[in-house]
Amino acid sequence: MKYQSFEAENGGLKIKVLNLGGIITNLYVKNAAGRYIDVVLGHDKPEEYLKSGCYFGAIAGRVANRIGSAAFTIDGRKYRLAKNDGKNSLHGGIKGFDKKIWAVENCSGDGWKGLRLSVLSPDMEEGYPGNLDMTVYYKLTDDSELVIEYIAFSDKPTLCAPTQHSYFNLSGAEDIYSHTLQVEADFFTPSDAALLPTGEVSSVKNTPLDFRKGKSLGDVLKAGGALLEAAGGGIDHNFILRADKGKLVKAATLADKSAGIEMQVFTTAPGIQVYSGNFIGGKRGKGGKTYKKHGGICLETQFWPDAPNKPHFPSIRLNPNEQFYSATVYKFKGVKKSEKAGKQA
Ligand code: BGC
Repeated sequence: MKYQSFEAENGGLKIKVLNLGGIITNLYVKNAAGRYIDVVLGHDKPEEYLKSGCYFGAIAGRVANRIGSAAFTIDGRKYRLAKNDGKNSLHGGIKGFDKKIWAVENCSGDGWKGLRLSVLSPDMEEGYPGNLDMTVYYKLTDDSELVIEYIAFSDKPTLCAPTQHSYFNLSGAEDIYSHTLQVEADFFTPSDAALLPTGEVSSVKNTPLDFRKGKSLGDVLKAGGALLEAAGGGIDHNFILRADKGKLVKAATLADKSAGIEMQVFTTAPGIQVYSGNFIGGKRGKGGKTYKKHGGICLETQFWPDAPNKPHFPSIRLNPNEQFYSATVYKFKGVKKSEKAGKQA
Protein backbone atom coordinates (compact mmCIF):
# COMPACT_ATOMS: atom_id res chain seq x y z
CA MET A 1 0.00 0.00 0.00
CA LYS A 2 1.43 3.33 -1.09
CA TYR A 3 -0.47 5.34 1.47
CA GLN A 4 -0.32 4.25 5.07
CA SER A 5 -1.83 5.66 8.23
CA PHE A 6 -0.03 5.72 11.57
CA GLU A 7 -1.33 6.60 15.00
CA ALA A 8 -0.23 7.51 18.49
CA GLU A 9 -2.14 8.18 21.69
CA ASN A 10 -1.22 9.82 25.00
CA GLY A 11 -2.34 12.41 27.54
CA GLY A 12 -5.96 12.42 26.35
CA LEU A 13 -4.91 13.05 22.74
CA LYS A 14 -4.83 10.72 19.76
CA ILE A 15 -3.34 11.50 16.37
CA LYS A 16 -3.66 9.80 12.99
CA VAL A 17 -1.06 10.65 10.38
CA LEU A 18 -0.54 9.69 6.74
CA ASN A 19 2.85 8.95 5.27
CA LEU A 20 1.59 11.20 2.44
CA GLY A 21 2.63 14.73 3.35
CA GLY A 22 2.88 13.91 7.05
CA ILE A 23 -0.80 14.83 6.97
CA ILE A 24 -2.58 14.88 10.32
CA THR A 25 -5.88 13.39 9.22
CA ASN A 26 -7.33 13.26 12.74
CA LEU A 27 -6.44 14.89 16.02
CA TYR A 28 -8.72 13.63 18.74
CA VAL A 29 -9.05 15.45 22.04
CA LYS A 30 -10.85 13.71 24.91
CA ASN A 31 -13.49 16.09 26.20
CA ALA A 32 -14.73 16.41 29.80
CA ALA A 33 -17.21 13.58 29.18
CA GLY A 34 -14.33 11.31 28.14
CA ARG A 35 -15.37 11.26 24.50
CA TYR A 36 -12.82 11.77 21.72
CA ILE A 37 -13.56 14.84 19.54
CA ASP A 38 -11.73 15.26 16.23
CA VAL A 39 -10.56 18.88 16.11
CA VAL A 40 -9.05 19.06 12.60
CA LEU A 41 -10.51 19.15 9.09
CA GLY A 42 -9.48 16.78 6.34
CA HIS A 43 -10.64 14.38 3.65
CA ASP A 44 -11.78 10.76 3.80
CA LYS A 45 -9.34 9.39 1.22
CA PRO A 46 -5.57 10.03 0.84
CA GLU A 47 -5.98 10.75 -2.89
CA GLU A 48 -8.30 13.65 -2.13
CA TYR A 49 -5.49 15.47 -0.32
CA LEU A 50 -3.50 15.46 -3.57
CA LYS A 51 -6.29 17.22 -5.44
CA SER A 52 -8.05 19.65 -3.13
CA GLY A 53 -5.35 22.31 -2.93
CA CYS A 54 -6.28 23.07 0.69
CA TYR A 55 -3.19 21.58 2.39
CA PHE A 56 -5.46 20.08 5.08
CA GLY A 57 -3.26 18.82 7.94
CA ALA A 58 -0.08 18.74 5.85
CA ILE A 59 3.51 19.67 6.46
CA ALA A 60 4.10 22.61 4.11
CA GLY A 61 7.63 23.20 2.81
CA ARG A 62 10.46 23.42 2.04
CA VAL A 63 9.27 27.00 2.39
CA ALA A 64 5.73 27.53 3.65
CA ASN A 65 3.68 30.48 2.39
CA ARG A 66 4.56 32.64 -0.61
CA ILE A 67 7.78 33.53 -2.41
CA GLY A 68 7.33 36.54 -4.70
CA SER A 69 7.75 36.01 -8.47
CA ALA A 70 8.67 32.41 -7.56
CA ALA A 71 12.35 33.31 -7.41
CA PHE A 72 15.11 34.06 -4.94
CA THR A 73 18.86 34.59 -4.90
CA ILE A 74 21.48 32.88 -2.74
CA ASP A 75 25.11 34.05 -2.90
CA GLY A 76 24.48 35.80 -6.21
CA ARG A 77 22.84 32.84 -7.94
CA LYS A 78 19.20 33.12 -8.93
CA TYR A 79 16.90 30.16 -8.32
CA ARG A 80 13.51 29.81 -9.98
CA LEU A 81 10.53 27.93 -8.57
CA ALA A 82 7.26 26.83 -10.11
CA LYS A 83 4.59 29.54 -10.19
CA ASN A 84 1.82 27.62 -8.47
CA ASP A 85 -0.06 30.62 -7.05
CA GLY A 86 -0.51 33.25 -9.76
CA LYS A 87 3.03 34.41 -10.49
CA ASN A 88 4.26 33.41 -7.04
CA SER A 89 5.32 30.18 -5.33
CA LEU A 90 3.17 28.75 -2.53
CA HIS A 91 3.96 26.12 0.12
CA GLY A 92 7.03 24.51 -1.46
CA GLY A 93 5.81 24.25 -5.05
CA ILE A 94 3.95 21.73 -7.18
CA LYS A 95 5.19 18.71 -5.26
CA GLY A 96 6.09 20.14 -1.90
CA PHE A 97 6.44 18.34 1.43
CA ASP A 98 2.64 17.96 1.50
CA LYS A 99 2.75 15.58 -1.48
CA LYS A 100 5.87 13.59 -0.64
CA ILE A 101 5.88 10.15 0.93
CA TRP A 102 7.50 10.34 4.33
CA ALA A 103 9.05 7.49 6.32
CA VAL A 104 7.04 7.27 9.55
CA GLU A 105 7.74 5.34 12.74
CA ASN A 106 6.29 5.24 16.23
CA CYS A 107 8.58 6.45 18.98
CA SER A 108 8.45 7.64 22.55
CA GLY A 109 10.53 9.50 25.10
CA ASP A 110 10.34 10.94 28.57
CA GLY A 111 6.73 12.07 29.00
CA TRP A 112 5.61 11.61 25.39
CA LYS A 113 4.55 9.14 22.75
CA GLY A 114 4.42 9.98 19.09
CA LEU A 115 5.68 9.70 15.55
CA ARG A 116 8.92 10.47 13.81
CA LEU A 117 8.67 11.44 10.14
CA SER A 118 11.57 11.85 7.79
CA VAL A 119 12.07 12.66 4.16
CA LEU A 120 14.91 13.56 1.84
CA SER A 121 14.35 16.38 -0.58
CA PRO A 122 17.03 16.01 -3.27
CA ASP A 123 19.20 18.83 -4.59
CA MET A 124 17.14 21.18 -6.83
CA GLU A 125 13.84 19.47 -6.05
CA GLU A 126 11.17 22.06 -6.82
CA GLY A 127 14.06 24.40 -7.63
CA TYR A 128 15.59 24.54 -4.14
CA PRO A 129 19.35 23.91 -3.84
CA GLY A 130 20.90 21.30 -1.54
CA ASN A 131 19.96 17.82 -0.45
CA LEU A 132 17.68 18.58 2.47
CA ASP A 133 17.33 15.96 5.15
CA MET A 134 14.13 16.73 7.04
CA THR A 135 12.80 15.17 10.23
CA VAL A 136 9.54 16.09 11.94
CA TYR A 137 8.34 14.82 15.30
CA TYR A 138 4.71 14.76 16.38
CA LYS A 139 4.89 14.21 20.15
CA LEU A 140 1.83 13.76 22.37
CA THR A 141 2.86 14.63 25.89
CA ASP A 142 1.45 13.49 29.23
CA ASP A 143 0.34 17.11 29.59
CA SER A 144 -2.07 17.04 26.61
CA GLU A 145 0.22 18.81 24.17
CA LEU A 146 0.95 18.11 20.55
CA VAL A 147 4.59 19.13 20.22
CA ILE A 148 5.85 19.48 16.65
CA GLU A 149 9.60 19.69 16.09
CA TYR A 150 11.32 20.26 12.76
CA ILE A 151 14.99 19.37 12.29
CA ALA A 152 16.80 19.76 8.98
CA PHE A 153 20.26 19.64 7.45
CA SER A 154 21.42 20.64 3.98
CA ASP A 155 24.67 20.07 2.10
CA LYS A 156 24.45 23.44 0.30
CA PRO A 157 23.24 26.88 1.34
CA THR A 158 19.45 26.76 0.92
CA LEU A 159 16.13 27.91 2.36
CA CYS A 160 14.14 26.09 5.01
CA ALA A 161 10.91 27.30 6.62
CA PRO A 162 8.29 24.56 7.04
CA THR A 163 4.97 24.74 8.88
CA GLN A 164 2.04 22.55 9.85
CA HIS A 165 -1.16 23.34 7.97
CA SER A 166 -3.90 21.83 10.15
CA TYR A 167 -7.29 23.51 10.11
CA PHE A 168 -8.74 23.51 13.62
CA ASN A 169 -12.39 23.43 14.53
CA LEU A 170 -12.85 22.70 18.23
CA SER A 171 -16.65 22.49 18.22
CA GLY A 172 -17.40 20.38 15.17
CA ALA A 173 -19.87 23.07 14.04
CA GLU A 174 -19.94 24.05 10.38
CA ASP A 175 -18.02 27.27 11.07
CA ILE A 176 -15.65 28.68 13.67
CA TYR A 177 -17.89 31.61 14.61
CA SER A 178 -18.37 30.43 18.20
CA HIS A 179 -14.59 30.30 18.73
CA THR A 180 -12.54 33.02 20.37
CA LEU A 181 -9.01 33.83 19.25
CA GLN A 182 -6.22 35.66 20.99
CA VAL A 183 -2.91 36.36 19.23
CA GLU A 184 0.24 37.65 20.91
CA ALA A 185 1.08 40.11 18.16
CA ASP A 186 1.31 43.90 18.08
CA PHE A 187 2.21 43.97 14.38
CA PHE A 188 1.45 42.20 11.12
CA THR A 189 2.90 42.22 7.60
CA PRO A 190 0.40 43.85 5.18
CA SER A 191 0.05 42.12 1.83
CA ASP A 192 -0.91 42.95 -1.74
CA ALA A 193 -3.80 41.57 -3.82
CA ALA A 194 -1.85 38.30 -4.35
CA LEU A 195 -1.40 37.98 -0.56
CA LEU A 196 2.32 38.67 -0.88
CA PRO A 197 3.81 40.94 1.79
CA THR A 198 4.44 44.49 0.65
CA GLY A 199 7.44 44.62 2.96
CA GLU A 200 5.78 46.95 5.45
CA VAL A 201 5.22 46.16 9.09
CA SER A 202 2.01 47.67 10.52
CA SER A 203 0.41 47.90 13.92
CA VAL A 204 -2.67 45.77 14.51
CA LYS A 205 -4.15 48.65 16.51
CA ASN A 206 -7.48 49.90 15.14
CA THR A 207 -7.67 47.04 12.64
CA PRO A 208 -9.75 43.81 12.74
CA LEU A 209 -6.42 42.03 13.32
CA ASP A 210 -6.07 43.32 16.87
CA PHE A 211 -6.46 40.00 18.70
CA ARG A 212 -4.23 40.97 21.62
CA LYS A 213 -7.09 40.74 24.10
CA GLY A 214 -8.89 37.88 22.43
CA LYS A 215 -12.24 38.19 20.70
CA SER A 216 -15.00 36.30 18.97
CA LEU A 217 -14.06 35.05 15.49
CA GLY A 218 -17.72 35.25 14.53
CA ASP A 219 -17.80 38.98 15.32
CA VAL A 220 -14.62 39.68 13.34
CA LEU A 221 -15.39 37.51 10.31
CA LYS A 222 -19.01 38.62 10.00
CA ALA A 223 -18.06 42.31 10.32
CA GLY A 224 -15.56 41.92 7.44
CA GLY A 225 -14.05 45.24 6.26
CA ALA A 226 -11.56 46.18 3.55
CA LEU A 227 -8.56 44.42 5.12
CA LEU A 228 -10.35 41.08 5.35
CA GLU A 229 -12.09 41.46 1.97
CA ALA A 230 -8.69 41.90 0.32
CA ALA A 231 -7.59 38.58 1.84
CA GLY A 232 -10.37 36.48 0.33
CA GLY A 233 -13.07 37.49 2.82
CA GLY A 234 -11.44 36.64 6.11
CA ILE A 235 -8.19 36.47 7.98
CA ASP A 236 -5.15 35.35 5.97
CA HIS A 237 -2.35 37.35 7.53
CA ASN A 238 1.11 36.91 8.99
CA PHE A 239 1.25 38.16 12.57
CA ILE A 240 4.61 39.11 14.04
CA LEU A 241 5.28 37.24 17.25
CA ARG A 242 7.43 38.39 20.12
CA ALA A 243 10.07 35.77 19.23
CA ASP A 244 12.92 35.24 21.66
CA LYS A 245 16.03 33.60 20.16
CA GLY A 246 14.63 30.18 19.54
CA LYS A 247 12.77 29.89 22.86
CA LEU A 248 9.17 28.73 22.96
CA VAL A 249 6.93 31.75 23.42
CA LYS A 250 3.16 32.04 23.59
CA ALA A 251 1.67 32.75 20.14
CA ALA A 252 -2.10 32.33 20.37
CA THR A 253 -5.08 30.83 22.14
CA LEU A 254 -8.06 29.37 20.32
CA ALA A 255 -11.05 28.41 22.46
CA ASP A 256 -14.60 27.24 22.13
CA LYS A 257 -16.85 27.42 25.15
CA SER A 258 -19.51 25.07 23.82
CA ALA A 259 -16.90 22.36 23.28
CA GLY A 260 -15.18 23.22 26.56
CA ILE A 261 -11.81 23.01 24.79
CA GLU A 262 -9.04 25.57 24.71
CA MET A 263 -5.90 25.29 22.60
CA GLN A 264 -2.83 27.37 23.38
CA VAL A 265 -0.07 27.73 20.80
CA PHE A 266 3.59 28.23 21.67
CA THR A 267 6.38 28.47 19.13
CA THR A 268 10.01 29.28 18.47
CA ALA A 269 9.01 30.79 15.09
CA PRO A 270 8.90 34.57 14.55
CA GLY A 271 5.47 34.58 12.90
CA ILE A 272 2.08 32.95 12.67
CA GLN A 273 -0.12 32.93 9.57
CA VAL A 274 -3.68 32.98 10.79
CA TYR A 275 -5.87 31.71 7.96
CA SER A 276 -9.61 31.44 8.51
CA GLY A 277 -10.32 28.90 5.76
CA ASN A 278 -11.48 31.55 3.28
CA PHE A 279 -11.04 29.25 0.27
CA ILE A 280 -12.43 25.94 1.56
CA GLY A 281 -16.12 26.59 0.85
CA GLY A 282 -17.58 23.71 -1.18
CA LYS A 283 -14.67 21.31 -0.59
CA ARG A 284 -15.61 17.75 0.27
CA GLY A 285 -14.41 16.90 3.75
CA LYS A 286 -14.36 14.03 6.22
CA GLY A 287 -17.51 11.98 6.69
CA GLY A 288 -18.87 13.17 3.33
CA LYS A 289 -19.39 16.70 4.72
CA THR A 290 -19.16 19.72 2.46
CA TYR A 291 -17.03 22.31 4.19
CA LYS A 292 -18.15 25.89 4.44
CA LYS A 293 -16.03 29.00 4.15
CA HIS A 294 -14.66 29.67 7.66
CA GLY A 295 -15.17 26.00 8.53
CA GLY A 296 -11.76 25.82 10.22
CA ILE A 297 -8.80 27.97 11.14
CA CYS A 298 -5.08 27.40 10.51
CA LEU A 299 -2.57 28.70 13.01
CA GLU A 300 0.57 28.27 10.94
CA THR A 301 3.64 29.06 13.01
CA GLN A 302 6.32 30.05 10.56
CA PHE A 303 8.84 32.55 9.25
CA TRP A 304 7.44 35.57 7.47
CA PRO A 305 6.21 35.14 3.89
CA ASP A 306 8.59 36.09 1.08
CA ALA A 307 11.49 36.27 3.56
CA PRO A 308 14.16 35.49 0.91
CA ASN A 309 13.18 38.62 -1.06
CA LYS A 310 12.74 40.90 1.95
CA PRO A 311 16.20 41.36 3.51
CA HIS A 312 14.69 43.09 6.57
CA PHE A 313 12.55 40.01 7.41
CA PRO A 314 14.10 37.25 9.58
CA SER A 315 16.33 35.08 7.38
CA ILE A 316 15.33 31.55 6.38
CA ARG A 317 18.74 30.65 4.99
CA LEU A 318 20.15 27.29 6.09
CA ASN A 319 23.89 26.70 5.67
CA PRO A 320 25.66 23.34 5.41
CA ASN A 321 26.87 22.09 8.81
CA GLU A 322 24.07 24.01 10.51
CA GLN A 323 21.00 22.43 12.05
CA PHE A 324 17.59 23.90 11.34
CA TYR A 325 15.39 23.55 14.42
CA SER A 326 11.93 24.88 15.04
CA ALA A 327 9.25 23.81 17.51
CA THR A 328 5.57 24.47 18.03
CA VAL A 329 3.32 23.31 20.85
CA TYR A 330 -0.46 23.01 20.62
CA LYS A 331 -1.53 22.60 24.24
CA PHE A 332 -5.07 21.47 24.93
CA LYS A 333 -7.03 22.29 28.07
CA GLY A 334 -10.33 20.81 29.10
CA VAL A 335 -8.98 17.38 28.22
CA LYS A 336 -9.84 14.26 30.15
CA LYS A 337 -6.68 12.21 30.51
CA SER A 338 -6.76 8.51 31.18
CA GLU A 339 -5.78 7.43 34.70
CA LYS A 340 -2.70 5.76 33.29
CA ALA A 341 -1.55 8.82 31.36
CA GLY A 342 1.71 8.88 33.31
CA LYS A 343 3.30 11.68 35.18
CA GLN A 344 1.75 15.11 34.92
CA ALA A 345 3.84 18.27 34.56
C1 BGC B 1 -2.41 30.63 2.90
C2 BGC B 1 -3.64 30.87 2.05
C3 BGC B 1 -3.78 29.72 1.08
C4 BGC B 1 -3.86 28.43 1.84
C5 BGC B 1 -3.90 27.25 0.90
C6 BGC B 1 -2.57 29.33 3.60
O1 BGC B 1 -1.42 29.06 4.33
O2 BGC B 1 -2.21 31.67 3.82
O3 BGC B 1 -3.56 32.10 1.37
O4 BGC B 1 -4.92 29.87 0.27
O5 BGC B 1 -2.74 28.28 2.66
O6 BGC B 1 -4.60 26.24 1.48
